[in-house]
Amino acid sequence: MSENKAEGRARLNRMPQWSALGKHREQLGETSLRELFAEDPARGTGYTLQVGDLYLDYSKHLVTDETLTRLRELAAATGVAELRDAMFRGEKINTTEDRAVLHTALRAPRDAVVEVDGENVVPAVHAVLDKMTAFAEKVRAGEWLGHTGRPIRNVVNIGIGGSDLGPAMAYEALRSFTDRDLTVRFVSNVDGADLHEAVRDLDAAETLFVIASKTFTTIETITNATSARNWLLTELKSDQDAVAKHFVALSTNAEKVADFGIDTENMFEFWDWVGGRYSFDSAIGLSLMIAVGPDRFREMLDGFHLMDEHFRTAPPESNAPLLLGLLGVWYGAFFDAQSHAVLPYSHYLSRFTAYLQQLDMESNGKSVDRDGEPVEWQTGPVVWGTPGTNGQHAYYQLIHQGTKVIPADFIGFGRPVADLPHRLIAQHDLLMANFFAQTQALAFGKTPEEVRAEGVPDDLVPHKTFRGNHPTTTILAESLTPSVLGQLIALYEHKVFVQGAVWNIDSFDQWGVELGKVLAKEIEPILTQIDGGRESPADKPLDASTAELVEKY
Ligand code: F6P
Repeated sequence: MSENKAEGRARLNRMPQWSALGKHREQLGETSLRELFAEDPARGTGYTLQVGDLYLDYSKHLVTDETLTRLRELAAATGVAELRDAMFRGEKINTTEDRAVLHTALRAPRDAVVEVDGENVVPAVHAVLDKMTAFAEKVRAGEWLGHTGRPIRNVVNIGIGGSDLGPAMAYEALRSFTDRDLTVRFVSNVDGADLHEAVRDLDAAETLFVIASKTFTTIETITNATSARNWLLTELKSDQDAVAKHFVALSTNAEKVADFGIDTENMFEFWDWVGGRYSFDSAIGLSLMIAVGPDRFREMLDGFHLMDEHFRTAPPESNAPLLLGLLGVWYGAFFDAQSHAVLPYSHYLSRFTAYLQQLDMESNGKSVDRDGEPVEWQTGPVVWGTPGTNGQHAYYQLIHQGTKVIPADFIGFGRPVADLPHRLIAQHDLLMANFFAQTQALAFGKTPEEVRAEGVPDDLVPHKTFRGNHPTTTILAESLTPSVLGQLIALYEHKVFVQGAVWNIDSFDQWGVELGKVLAKEIEPILTQIDGGRESPADKPLDASTAELVEKY
């Protein structure tokens, strides 16, 4: 493990490249985007990148050529490229869990070679993809029959975190590519209402449950899966035999899958070198594959792979994930930005930001570095946002005129998806007019002079002034296809990687979720005992607040 620790690496905030950035920030002072654009009229074309189908415009950032050079120097000094290469080589860069980090192998072509502990993992990846393909095709063709002989028409994915957010997000994103005759739902919350609403109008005889859990021990998932099994057996008035035709598992843990009563023949495997939040292009994507079909799923994988190759091989000056990662470092460290908004102007990307929340915040929400030392710099931001113009009528006020620096990504498309009815296509122009207008207003604002020139009375001028200088990245693609979705997600995966590398944190563990789980396990029996009227919560060693809350409950 020790070879991957950042031994010998200077603390980030003691590096000369860090201090140089700090000085540069002071020199930049209040330089506005208006000034930067006036100085360099070619900025709107020069500060752009085309990667695969994605066009990235980063001209509306508070950066100059010097900023970008200095940020790249920081990346070099912090060994981002070396860590990236170690990740792609299958080295155990997740040091606290002693694991390789190889989601990139999930989308590697069949003839690629990626070794973990001396073994090429690519054949196993493709064997599982082939098994998923055969199964998905059977379900889609109506050939996978339920216990009573009826074809499966409903798919209910039960999982949480990385075993839910990815496939649920991608199912929404690619809805127009889905088989509309199949009903596909996602259950994650241990609140029984989630499962209830998902199955209440379904015919059990036609329903397949896909139990997605890397560990197969996650309490929410196992609880919901158990309830789903009870529902199915009651509805079908059947014994345990029905489970074989109505339950499949996506997991790394064959033993637990068998314990639950699912035939391991019906298990789709993945591996401990796939992190939960990086897993939806593994077997965890089975529900999505059933919905969109294996060909579309593989197009998505190709999109991921395209971005992987770009990240691995593009020079720093034109490396999109490197650039986006460094911009985030810049704002966190030198503008005290606490959050990052992701604002997709696409209804189909309604779950995209929620997905990114886990990807980014579970990865980089850390406060000790790889050596266990407390960090003395900002790490991962709060990631938030909602799709389309809705946010404009809710929280954009704060982005425009509030006191906080909130860098934002605007994601939009040249045309709507193919199956939008003709009469609705025209609305796309209005959607995108808003998109462009917002990034324009955020960057350039409106000066008091401009407000006054409109005849606004003096006392209202401050209220109608827009400071501008709110940094945004614009990401445009022609259309939201499976490949574009894969490219986008890999772009963010690698952006998160870059930031973790610079900050010298382990982006691939998530110890911070453990404590709450342990405490919930202790509290739950107290609640059930109270329900049974047997014991008072006061007998338990709870803190005064929690004891009182439990009592109220
Ligand atoms: O609690 C956090 C977490 O471990 C995530 O990292 C993971 O995606 C989620 O729980 C679900 O875990 P599993 O797939 O093992 O059920």
